[in-house]
Amino acid sequence: MASLKLWGAIAFVCLGLAGCDSDDAASTGGGGSAPTDVTFHRDVEPILQDNCLGCHYDGKIGGFSLATYEEAAPLANLIAAQTEAGLMPPWGAHDTDECHPIRPWKNDLRLSDEEISKLRAWADQGAPEGDPADAPPAYTPPPDGLANRSVELSPAVPSTVSGTSDQFTCVVYDPALTEDKWVDGIHFVAGNPIVAHHALTFRVDRARAEELSGGAPTFPCFGGSPGEIIHVWAPGTQPFELPDDVGIKLTPDQVVVVQMHYHPTGTTTETDTSKIQLRFKAEDPSYEFYVLFPGNAENAEDGLLPGPNDAGPTPEFRIPANVKDHTETMEIAVPNEIFFDIPILMVMAHMHYVGVDLKFEIHRANPPGGQEQDECFLHNPAWDFGWQRFYTFDVPIADLPTAKAGDTLKIRCRYDNTKSNPFVAQALADRNMSEPVEVLLGEETLDEMCLAPVGILVPAGIL
Ligand code: HEC
Repeated sequence: MASLKLWGAIAFVCLGLAGCDSDDAASTGGGGSAPTDVTFHRDVEPILQDNCLGCHYDGKIGGFSLATYEEAAPLANLIAAQTEAGLMPPWGAHDTDECHPIRPWKNDLRLSDEEISKLRAWADQGAPEGDPADAPPAYTPPPDGLANRSVELSPAVPSTVSGTSDQFTCVVYDPALTEDKWVDGIHFVAGNPIVAHHALTFRVDRARAEELSGGAPTFPCFGGSPGEIIHVWAPGTQPFELPDDVGIKLTPDQVVVVQMHYHPTGTTTETDTSKIQLRFKAEDPSYEFYVLFPGNAENAEDGLLPGPNDAGPTPEFRIPANVKDHTETMEIAVPNEIFFDIPILMVMAHMHYVGVDLKFEIHRANPPGGQEQDECFLHNPAWDFGWQRFYTFDVPIADLPTAKAGDTLKIRCRYDNTKSNPFVAQALADRNMSEPVEVLLGEETLDEMCLAPVGILVPAGIL
Protein backbone atom coordinates (compact mmCIF):
# COMPACT_ATOMS: atom_id res chain seq x y z
CA MET A 1 0.00 0.00 0.00
CA ALA A 2 2.65 2.46 -0.99
CA SER A 3 0.00 4.71 -2.48
CA LEU A 4 -1.40 5.58 0.91
CA LYS A 5 2.06 6.60 2.01
CA LEU A 6 2.35 8.62 -1.17
CA TRP A 7 -0.89 10.35 -0.42
CA GLY A 8 0.57 11.40 2.88
CA ALA A 9 3.75 12.41 1.14
CA ILE A 10 1.80 14.74 -1.18
CA ALA A 11 1.78 17.20 1.64
CA PHE A 12 4.01 15.61 4.23
CA VAL A 13 5.86 18.64 5.27
CA CYS A 14 6.86 19.62 8.71
CA LEU A 15 4.34 21.30 10.87
CA GLY A 16 6.80 24.18 10.82
CA LEU A 17 6.25 26.41 13.74
CA ALA A 18 5.36 30.01 13.70
CA GLY A 19 2.28 31.74 15.04
CA CYS A 20 -0.81 33.38 13.94
CA ASP A 21 -4.19 34.43 15.05
CA SER A 22 -7.04 36.60 14.17
CA ASP A 23 -7.91 39.82 15.85
CA ASP A 24 -11.47 39.01 14.89
CA ALA A 25 -13.15 37.33 17.78
CA ALA A 26 -14.86 34.06 17.07
CA SER A 27 -18.58 34.23 16.82
CA THR A 28 -19.69 32.08 19.68
CA GLY A 29 -21.28 34.74 21.82
CA GLY A 30 -24.89 35.73 22.00
CA GLY A 31 -27.87 33.45 21.97
CA GLY A 32 -29.92 32.27 24.90
CA SER A 33 -32.02 34.55 27.04
CA ALA A 34 -30.36 36.15 30.04
CA PRO A 35 -30.77 33.93 33.10
CA THR A 36 -31.95 35.53 36.30
CA ASP A 37 -30.42 35.20 39.77
CA VAL A 38 -27.14 33.67 38.82
CA THR A 39 -24.78 32.79 41.66
CA PHE A 40 -21.16 31.70 41.76
CA HIS A 41 -21.56 28.45 43.61
CA ARG A 42 -24.65 27.18 41.83
CA ASP A 43 -24.12 28.39 38.25
CA VAL A 44 -20.61 29.64 37.63
CA GLU A 45 -18.37 27.34 39.66
CA PRO A 46 -19.38 24.18 37.72
CA ILE A 47 -18.60 25.90 34.40
CA LEU A 48 -15.20 27.05 35.60
CA GLN A 49 -14.39 23.60 37.02
CA ASP A 50 -15.26 21.83 33.78
CA ASN A 51 -13.75 24.23 31.28
CA CYS A 52 -11.20 26.53 32.86
CA LEU A 53 -9.43 25.11 35.91
CA GLY A 54 -7.33 22.76 33.77
CA CYS A 55 -5.26 25.90 33.06
CA HIS A 56 -6.49 28.43 35.64
CA TYR A 57 -5.40 26.68 38.80
CA ASP A 58 -2.38 27.17 41.04
CA GLY A 59 0.82 26.50 39.12
CA LYS A 60 -0.89 25.95 35.77
CA ILE A 61 -0.29 27.71 32.45
CA GLY A 62 -3.25 30.13 32.76
CA GLY A 63 -1.18 32.28 35.13
CA PHE A 64 -3.95 32.84 37.69
CA SER A 65 -6.48 30.63 39.48
CA LEU A 66 -10.25 30.79 39.06
CA ALA A 67 -10.89 28.07 41.64
CA THR A 68 -12.51 30.09 44.43
CA TYR A 69 -15.11 32.81 44.68
CA GLU A 70 -12.49 35.26 45.96
CA GLU A 71 -10.30 34.56 42.93
CA ALA A 72 -13.02 34.60 40.26
CA ALA A 73 -15.32 37.41 41.39
CA PRO A 74 -12.96 40.34 40.67
CA LEU A 75 -12.54 38.98 37.14
CA ALA A 76 -16.26 38.45 36.43
CA ASN A 77 -16.40 41.07 33.66
CA LEU A 78 -13.21 39.90 32.02
CA ILE A 79 -14.43 36.29 32.17
CA ALA A 80 -17.70 37.28 30.47
CA ALA A 81 -15.90 39.31 27.81
CA GLN A 82 -13.29 36.65 27.03
CA THR A 83 -15.82 33.85 26.75
CA GLU A 84 -18.27 35.93 24.67
CA ALA A 85 -15.46 36.75 22.27
CA GLY A 86 -14.59 33.05 21.95
CA LEU A 87 -11.06 33.77 23.19
CA MET A 88 -11.31 31.57 26.29
CA PRO A 89 -10.97 28.62 26.42
CA PRO A 90 -8.26 29.41 23.90
CA TRP A 91 -8.65 26.62 21.32
CA GLY A 92 -9.83 28.33 18.14
CA ALA A 93 -12.21 25.74 16.66
CA HIS A 94 -15.88 26.57 17.03
CA ASP A 95 -19.30 25.53 15.89
CA THR A 96 -20.14 28.25 13.34
CA ASP A 97 -22.86 29.18 10.86
CA GLU A 98 -20.95 27.40 8.11
CA CYS A 99 -19.67 24.40 10.05
CA HIS A 100 -21.41 22.17 12.58
CA PRO A 101 -19.12 19.26 13.42
CA ILE A 102 -21.50 16.41 14.20
CA ARG A 103 -19.35 14.22 16.43
CA PRO A 104 -18.29 15.05 19.99
CA TRP A 105 -14.62 15.75 20.69
CA LYS A 106 -12.57 14.41 23.57
CA ASN A 107 -11.64 17.04 26.14
CA ASP A 108 -13.94 19.50 24.46
CA LEU A 109 -13.81 22.73 26.45
CA ARG A 110 -16.08 24.80 24.22
CA LEU A 111 -18.86 26.57 26.12
CA SER A 112 -22.50 26.47 25.07
CA ASP A 113 -24.34 29.73 24.39
CA GLU A 114 -26.28 29.11 27.60
CA GLU A 115 -23.09 28.84 29.65
CA ILE A 116 -21.73 32.02 28.09
CA SER A 117 -24.99 33.85 28.92
CA LYS A 118 -24.74 32.65 32.52
CA LEU A 119 -21.21 34.05 32.87
CA ARG A 120 -22.40 37.37 31.41
CA ALA A 121 -25.46 37.49 33.69
CA TRP A 122 -23.29 36.75 36.72
CA ALA A 123 -21.01 39.66 35.87
CA ASP A 124 -23.93 42.00 35.16
CA GLN A 125 -25.59 41.11 38.48
CA GLY A 126 -22.47 42.11 40.40
CA ALA A 127 -20.93 38.63 40.74
CA PRO A 128 -23.02 37.36 43.69
CA GLU A 129 -21.54 34.49 45.67
CA GLY A 130 -24.74 32.62 46.57
CA ASP A 131 -24.97 29.79 49.05
CA PRO A 132 -21.83 27.66 49.48
CA ALA A 133 -24.17 24.70 50.04
CA ASP A 134 -25.03 24.91 46.29
CA ALA A 135 -21.38 24.42 45.29
CA PRO A 136 -20.31 21.35 43.26
CA PRO A 137 -17.82 18.96 44.92
CA ALA A 138 -14.39 20.56 45.36
CA TYR A 139 -12.24 20.53 42.22
CA THR A 140 -9.53 17.92 42.03
CA PRO A 141 -6.94 18.43 39.29
CA PRO A 142 -6.57 15.48 36.91
CA PRO A 143 -3.58 13.27 37.75
CA ASP A 144 -0.43 14.69 36.21
CA GLY A 145 1.05 12.36 33.66
CA LEU A 146 0.17 9.34 31.58
CA ALA A 147 -1.65 6.55 33.44
CA ASN A 148 0.17 3.20 33.54
CA ARG A 149 3.17 4.56 31.64
CA SER A 150 5.91 2.12 30.65
CA VAL A 151 8.82 4.56 30.34
CA GLU A 152 9.71 8.19 30.91
CA LEU A 153 12.44 9.46 28.60
CA SER A 154 14.75 12.37 29.38
CA PRO A 155 16.96 14.30 26.97
CA ALA A 156 20.73 13.85 27.25
CA VAL A 157 21.20 17.59 27.89
CA PRO A 158 18.88 20.47 28.86
CA SER A 159 18.04 23.09 26.22
CA THR A 160 18.96 26.71 26.82
CA VAL A 161 16.45 29.39 25.85
CA SER A 162 17.32 33.07 25.70
CA GLY A 163 17.01 36.19 23.54
CA THR A 164 13.80 37.67 22.20
CA SER A 165 12.96 35.54 19.13
CA ASP A 166 11.14 32.22 19.25
CA GLN A 167 13.51 29.29 19.16
CA PHE A 168 12.97 25.94 17.45
CA THR A 169 15.02 23.07 18.77
CA CYS A 170 14.88 19.36 17.99
CA VAL A 171 15.63 17.18 21.01
CA VAL A 172 16.55 13.51 20.61
CA TYR A 173 15.09 10.97 23.07
CA ASP A 174 16.37 7.42 22.82
CA PRO A 175 14.00 4.74 24.13
CA ALA A 176 16.83 2.19 23.50
CA LEU A 177 14.36 -0.55 22.61
CA THR A 178 15.60 -4.09 22.13
CA GLU A 179 12.38 -5.29 20.45
CA ASP A 180 9.41 -3.77 18.59
CA LYS A 181 6.86 -2.05 20.81
CA TRP A 182 3.35 -0.78 20.20
CA VAL A 183 2.78 2.60 21.83
CA ASP A 184 -0.79 3.46 22.84
CA GLY A 185 -0.20 6.44 25.10
CA ILE A 186 2.10 9.48 24.80
CA HIS A 187 2.48 12.39 27.15
CA PHE A 188 4.83 15.35 26.95
CA VAL A 189 5.83 16.76 30.33
CA ALA A 190 7.01 20.35 29.96
CA GLY A 191 10.13 20.91 32.02
CA ASN A 192 9.96 24.68 32.04
CA PRO A 193 6.39 25.84 31.32
CA ILE A 194 7.54 29.47 31.15
CA VAL A 195 9.26 28.88 27.80
CA ALA A 196 7.88 25.55 26.48
CA HIS A 197 5.23 26.80 24.09
CA HIS A 198 4.53 23.82 21.94
CA ALA A 199 6.02 20.40 21.07
CA LEU A 200 5.71 18.08 18.09
CA THR A 201 6.88 14.51 18.59
CA PHE A 202 8.21 12.37 15.72
CA ARG A 203 9.46 8.81 15.39
CA VAL A 204 12.65 8.92 13.35
CA ASP A 205 14.99 6.26 12.01
CA ARG A 206 18.11 6.25 14.14
CA ALA A 207 20.38 6.76 11.12
CA ARG A 208 18.29 9.69 9.87
CA ALA A 209 18.34 11.32 13.30
CA GLU A 210 22.11 11.01 13.45
CA GLU A 211 22.41 12.52 10.01
CA LEU A 212 20.26 15.50 11.02
CA SER A 213 21.84 16.06 14.41
CA GLY A 214 25.44 15.21 13.55
CA GLY A 215 25.30 13.03 16.65
CA ALA A 216 24.39 15.96 18.94
CA PRO A 217 21.57 15.51 21.49
CA THR A 218 19.80 18.65 20.23
CA PHE A 219 19.84 20.56 16.94
CA PRO A 220 18.10 23.62 15.47
CA CYS A 221 15.05 22.72 13.34
CA PHE A 222 12.43 25.27 12.38
CA GLY A 223 11.53 23.83 9.00
CA GLY A 224 11.43 20.33 7.62
CA SER A 225 10.04 17.22 9.18
CA PRO A 226 12.59 14.99 10.89
CA GLY A 227 10.33 11.91 10.63
CA GLU A 228 6.75 10.77 11.10
CA ILE A 229 4.74 12.85 13.51
CA ILE A 230 3.09 10.91 16.34
CA HIS A 231 2.04 13.59 18.84
CA VAL A 232 1.24 17.28 19.22
CA TRP A 233 1.45 18.99 22.60
CA ALA A 234 0.38 22.47 23.62
CA PRO A 235 -0.07 23.78 27.16
CA GLY A 236 -3.19 22.44 28.79
CA THR A 237 -3.51 19.33 26.62
CA GLN A 238 -4.27 15.99 28.25
CA PRO A 239 -2.12 12.86 27.76
CA PHE A 240 -2.68 11.36 24.31
CA GLU A 241 -4.28 7.94 24.64
CA LEU A 242 -5.20 5.90 21.58
CA PRO A 243 -8.41 3.85 21.53
CA ASP A 244 -8.16 0.16 22.49
CA ASP A 245 -6.78 -1.92 19.68
CA VAL A 246 -4.79 0.95 18.12
CA GLY A 247 -1.04 1.45 18.40
CA ILE A 248 1.98 3.26 17.00
CA LYS A 249 4.87 0.97 16.20
CA LEU A 250 8.28 1.84 17.55
CA THR A 251 11.29 -0.29 16.60
CA PRO A 252 14.83 -0.59 18.02
CA ASP A 253 16.00 1.25 14.87
CA GLN A 254 14.02 4.34 15.81
CA VAL A 255 14.39 7.22 18.23
CA VAL A 256 11.89 9.84 19.32
CA VAL A 257 12.62 13.43 18.28
CA VAL A 258 10.69 16.32 19.77
CA GLN A 259 10.59 19.57 17.87
CA MET A 260 10.31 22.19 20.60
CA HIS A 261 8.91 25.63 20.03
CA TYR A 262 10.38 27.82 22.75
CA HIS A 263 9.10 31.27 23.54
CA PRO A 264 11.89 33.09 25.42
CA THR A 265 11.06 35.47 28.23
CA GLY A 266 13.06 38.24 26.55
CA THR A 267 14.96 39.07 29.72
CA THR A 268 16.23 35.84 31.27
CA THR A 269 18.17 32.77 30.22
CA GLU A 270 16.08 29.67 30.93
CA THR A 271 16.81 25.98 30.68
CA ASP A 272 14.32 23.27 29.84
CA THR A 273 14.42 19.53 30.45
CA SER A 274 11.09 18.27 29.14
CA LYS A 275 10.24 14.58 29.34
CA ILE A 276 8.34 12.12 27.18
CA GLN A 277 6.19 9.40 28.73
CA LEU A 278 5.23 6.35 26.66
CA ARG A 279 2.91 3.47 27.38
CA PHE A 280 3.44 0.17 25.56
CA LYS A 281 0.65 -2.25 24.73
CA ALA A 282 0.72 -5.80 26.00
CA GLU A 283 -0.78 -7.17 22.79
CA ASP A 284 -0.41 -6.37 19.11
CA PRO A 285 -3.24 -4.05 17.97
CA SER A 286 -5.49 -4.46 14.92
CA TYR A 287 -4.94 -0.85 13.81
CA GLU A 288 -1.96 1.44 13.42
CA PHE A 289 -2.22 5.20 13.89
CA TYR A 290 -0.81 7.50 11.21
CA VAL A 291 -0.99 11.21 10.53
CA LEU A 292 -1.51 12.46 6.98
CA PHE A 293 -1.11 16.08 5.93
CA PRO A 294 -3.64 17.00 3.25
CA GLY A 295 -3.22 20.54 2.04
CA ASN A 296 -0.40 22.87 0.97
CA ALA A 297 -1.41 22.52 -2.68
CA GLU A 298 0.95 24.67 -4.71
CA ASN A 299 -0.72 24.39 -8.12
CA ALA A 300 -3.84 23.16 -9.88
CA GLU A 301 -2.39 19.67 -10.24
CA ASP A 302 -2.11 19.38 -6.44
CA GLY A 303 -5.70 20.60 -6.04
CA LEU A 304 -5.30 24.37 -5.66
CA LEU A 305 -8.39 26.26 -6.85
CA PRO A 306 -8.36 29.74 -8.42
CA GLY A 307 -8.16 32.48 -5.80
CA PRO A 308 -8.91 36.21 -5.58
CA ASN A 309 -5.37 37.45 -6.06
CA ASP A 310 -4.08 35.14 -8.78
CA ALA A 311 -2.17 37.08 -11.45
CA GLY A 312 -3.87 35.19 -14.31
CA PRO A 313 -6.10 32.18 -14.91
CA THR A 314 -3.58 29.78 -13.37
CA PRO A 315 -4.15 29.19 -9.64
CA GLU A 316 -1.19 30.18 -7.48
CA PHE A 317 -0.56 30.13 -3.75
CA ARG A 318 0.53 33.72 -3.26
CA ILE A 319 -0.58 36.09 -0.53
CA PRO A 320 0.21 39.65 -1.61
CA ALA A 321 1.58 42.10 0.95
CA ASN A 322 -1.00 44.32 2.67
CA VAL A 323 -4.02 42.25 1.62
CA LYS A 324 -6.40 41.78 4.51
CA ASP A 325 -8.83 39.18 3.22
CA HIS A 326 -7.00 36.61 1.12
CA THR A 327 -8.35 33.09 0.59
CA GLU A 328 -6.73 29.93 -0.75
CA THR A 329 -8.91 26.87 -1.34
CA MET A 330 -7.84 23.36 -2.22
CA GLU A 331 -9.59 20.11 -3.08
CA ILE A 332 -7.59 16.96 -2.60
CA ALA A 333 -8.85 13.68 -4.00
CA VAL A 334 -8.36 10.47 -2.06
CA PRO A 335 -6.55 8.29 -4.64
CA ASN A 336 -8.40 5.48 -6.36
CA GLU A 337 -5.85 2.90 -5.27
CA ILE A 338 -7.09 3.10 -1.69
CA PHE A 339 -9.43 0.15 -1.39
CA PHE A 340 -10.63 0.40 2.21
CA ASP A 341 -12.50 2.93 4.30
CA ILE A 342 -9.99 4.92 6.30
CA PRO A 343 -11.35 5.74 9.76
CA ILE A 344 -10.49 9.33 10.74
CA LEU A 345 -9.76 9.55 14.46
CA MET A 346 -8.80 13.19 14.72
CA VAL A 347 -8.40 16.42 12.79
CA MET A 348 -6.34 19.54 13.20
CA ALA A 349 -5.68 22.87 11.50
CA HIS A 350 -2.26 24.23 10.68
CA MET A 351 -1.10 27.57 9.31
CA HIS A 352 1.62 30.05 10.33
CA TYR A 353 1.37 33.75 11.33
CA VAL A 354 -0.57 35.24 8.42
CA GLY A 355 -3.41 32.70 8.59
CA VAL A 356 -6.58 33.67 10.47
CA ASP A 357 -9.23 31.07 9.61
CA LEU A 358 -9.25 27.46 8.36
CA LYS A 359 -12.16 25.23 7.39
CA PHE A 360 -11.90 21.51 6.59
CA GLU A 361 -14.67 19.48 4.96
CA ILE A 362 -15.01 16.16 3.21
CA HIS A 363 -17.16 15.40 0.19
CA ARG A 364 -17.97 11.69 -0.06
CA ALA A 365 -18.46 10.12 -3.47
CA ASN A 366 -20.56 7.28 -2.01
CA PRO A 367 -21.31 7.93 1.66
CA PRO A 368 -21.26 4.73 3.72
CA GLY A 369 -24.31 4.13 5.91
CA GLY A 370 -24.98 6.89 8.38
CA GLN A 371 -22.46 9.35 6.94
CA GLU A 372 -23.42 12.60 5.29
CA GLN A 373 -22.26 13.26 1.74
CA ASP A 374 -20.74 16.58 2.80
CA GLU A 375 -19.38 16.83 6.31
CA CYS A 376 -17.60 19.74 7.92
CA PHE A 377 -14.97 18.48 10.34
CA LEU A 378 -13.38 21.62 11.64
CA HIS A 379 -13.74 25.37 11.45
CA ASN A 380 -11.12 27.40 13.20
CA PRO A 381 -12.23 31.03 12.87
CA ALA A 382 -9.89 32.18 15.66
CA TRP A 383 -6.68 30.61 14.47
CA ASP A 384 -3.82 31.07 16.92
CA PHE A 385 -0.52 29.36 16.20
CA GLY A 386 0.13 29.15 19.92
CA TRP A 387 -2.98 27.03 20.52
CA GLN A 388 -2.82 24.11 18.14
CA ARG A 389 -4.29 20.77 19.05
CA PHE A 390 -5.77 17.67 17.57
CA TYR A 391 -9.54 17.46 17.87
CA THR A 392 -10.19 13.77 18.56
CA PHE A 393 -13.61 12.25 17.91
CA ASP A 394 -15.05 10.79 21.08
CA VAL A 395 -16.86 7.83 19.50
CA PRO A 396 -16.08 4.10 19.11
CA ILE A 397 -13.93 3.12 16.13
CA ALA A 398 -16.98 1.73 14.31
CA ASP A 399 -18.62 5.18 14.46
CA LEU A 400 -15.64 7.20 13.25
CA PRO A 401 -16.07 9.11 9.99
CA THR A 402 -14.22 7.57 7.07
CA ALA A 403 -12.58 8.61 3.82
CA LYS A 404 -12.21 6.37 0.82
CA ALA A 405 -11.23 6.39 -2.85
CA GLY A 406 -13.13 9.03 -4.78
CA ASP A 407 -13.78 11.27 -1.78
CA THR A 408 -12.57 14.86 -1.83
CA LEU A 409 -11.02 16.71 1.06
CA LYS A 410 -11.70 20.44 0.91
CA ILE A 411 -9.57 22.92 2.81
CA ARG A 412 -10.13 26.66 2.84
CA CYS A 413 -7.60 28.99 4.45
CA ARG A 414 -7.95 32.71 5.01
CA TYR A 415 -5.09 35.10 5.58
CA ASP A 416 -4.61 38.65 6.80
CA ASN A 417 -1.25 39.90 5.55
CA THR A 418 -1.48 43.36 7.08
CA LYS A 419 0.03 44.89 10.19
CA SER A 420 -3.41 44.94 11.80
CA ASN A 421 -2.93 41.17 12.20
CA PRO A 422 -1.00 41.24 15.52
CA PHE A 423 0.86 38.04 14.67
CA VAL A 424 2.11 39.48 11.40
CA ALA A 425 3.16 42.64 13.24
CA GLN A 426 5.07 40.53 15.78
CA ALA A 427 6.72 38.34 13.13
CA LEU A 428 7.88 41.45 11.25
CA ALA A 429 9.17 43.08 14.44
CA ASP A 430 11.09 39.89 15.32
CA ARG A 431 12.89 40.24 11.99
CA ASN A 432 13.45 44.00 12.11
CA MET A 433 11.15 44.45 9.15
CA SER A 434 8.70 47.31 8.93
CA GLU A 435 6.28 46.29 6.17
CA PRO A 436 4.47 43.06 5.24
CA VAL A 437 5.98 41.07 2.36
CA GLU A 438 4.47 38.78 -0.26
CA VAL A 439 3.98 35.36 1.34
CA LEU A 440 4.32 32.00 -0.46
CA LEU A 441 4.05 28.37 0.63
CA GLY A 442 7.02 27.27 2.68
CA GLU A 443 8.45 26.29 6.00
CA GLU A 444 9.89 29.53 7.32
CA THR A 445 8.00 31.72 9.77
CA LEU A 446 7.08 34.28 7.12
CA ASP A 447 6.01 31.59 4.66
CA GLU A 448 2.56 30.11 4.95
CA MET A 449 0.81 26.79 5.04
CA CYS A 450 -2.74 25.50 4.65
CA LEU A 451 -2.93 22.04 6.15
CA ALA A 452 -5.62 19.92 7.73
CA PRO A 453 -3.62 17.13 9.42
CA VAL A 454 -5.75 14.03 9.98
CA GLY A 455 -4.99 11.14 12.31
CA ILE A 456 -6.14 7.92 10.64
CA LEU A 457 -6.36 4.24 11.49
CA VAL A 458 -4.91 1.66 9.12
CA PRO A 459 -5.03 -2.14 9.50
CA ALA A 460 -1.82 -3.02 11.37
CA GLY A 461 1.07 -4.15 9.22
CA ILE A 462 -0.48 -3.08 5.90
CA LEU A 463 2.00 -0.27 5.15
C1 HEC B 1 -5.72 25.54 27.72
C2 HEC B 1 -5.50 26.48 28.79
C3 HEC B 1 -6.59 27.45 29.16
C4 HEC B 1 -7.92 27.19 29.38
C5 HEC B 1 -8.64 25.86 29.30
C6 HEC B 1 -8.53 28.46 29.76
N1 HEC B 1 -7.59 29.44 29.74
FE1 HEC B 1 -7.92 31.39 30.19
N2 HEC B 1 -5.96 31.82 29.80
C7 HEC B 1 -4.99 30.88 29.46
C8 HEC B 1 -3.72 31.56 29.28
C9 HEC B 1 -2.39 30.91 28.93
C10 HEC B 1 -3.96 32.93 29.51
C11 HEC B 1 -2.95 34.07 29.42
C12 HEC B 1 -3.13 34.86 28.16
C13 HEC B 1 -2.96 34.05 26.92
O1 HEC B 1 -1.92 33.40 26.72
O2 HEC B 1 -3.89 34.02 26.08
C14 HEC B 1 -5.38 33.05 29.83
C15 HEC B 1 -6.02 34.25 30.09
C16 HEC B 1 -7.32 34.37 30.56
C17 HEC B 1 -7.94 35.60 30.96
C18 HEC B 1 -7.27 36.95 31.01
C19 HEC B 1 -7.32 37.60 29.67
C20 HEC B 1 -6.71 38.97 29.69
O3 HEC B 1 -7.05 39.71 28.80
O4 HEC B 1 -5.91 39.25 30.59
C21 HEC B 1 -9.22 35.28 31.37
C22 HEC B 1 -10.26 36.24 31.92
C23 HEC B 1 -9.39 33.88 31.18
N3 HEC B 1 -8.23 33.35 30.67
C24 HEC B 1 -10.55 33.20 31.46
C25 HEC B 1 -10.76 31.85 31.16
C26 HEC B 1 -12.01 31.18 31.36
C27 HEC B 1 -13.26 31.82 31.95
C28 HEC B 1 -11.83 29.90 30.94
C29 HEC B 1 -12.85 28.80 30.89
C30 HEC B 1 -14.12 29.11 30.28
C31 HEC B 1 -10.45 29.77 30.50
N4 HEC B 1 -9.84 30.99 30.64
C32 HEC B 1 -9.88 28.60 30.04
C33 HEC B 1 -5.16 29.53 29.34
C34 HEC B 1 -6.39 28.87 29.41
